Amino acid sequence: MSQVSSTDVPNLGRRQFMNLLTFGTITGVAAGALYPIVKYFIPPSAGGTGGGVTAKDALGNDVIVSQFLTSHNAGDRTLAQGLKGDPTYLVVQEDKTLANYGINAVCTHLGCVVPWNASEEKFMCPCHGSQYNAEGKVVRGPAPLSLALAHANVTDNDKVVFSTWTETDFRTGEEPWWS
Ligand code: FES
Repeated sequence: MSQVSSTDVPNLGRRQFMNLLTFGTITGVAAGALYPIVKYFIPPSAGGTGGGVTAKDALGNDVIVSQFLTSHNAGDRTLAQGLKGDPTYLVVQEDKTLANYGINAVCTHLGCVVPWNASEEKFMCPCHGSQYNAEGKVVRGPAPLSLALAHANVTDNDKVVFSTWTETDFRTGEEPWWS
């Protein structure tokens, strides 16, 4: 009996390992073959060069504004994928419309993603305690600067396009440090 188990166990392990390897290889080949086809169906604008990028949710799907607004409350700050892949908050205003700006969630201290604290109505960085007000203006260090802004424009097809904010920072009256 002991002989059986001592040979079978490694064999089983090996077989599973080989299965895994084979599956992995087939998946890899299939993905490789599909790539040009998938790429064909993705419009060039989806890459986000030049004109901006379409905001995507946590699953990588385009944010659909009408649906988004029915499932979010006034005052919500919700992470979406923004410019250069940066996590960027979409802001639902008190009148339940989407703000025309997004707030880049990357802390200006050392780059942690800053969570929104709804009860405090602040963005509060867990790393070293920096705080930002509801519009992302820094109110407590060590962060030296406010969170970056991006334009967030609703398109005719019910999506949001983030684009670079080059104008004066409306929170500070200063030129944007990020562009
Ligand atoms: Fe946010 Fe240091 S990275 S406070």
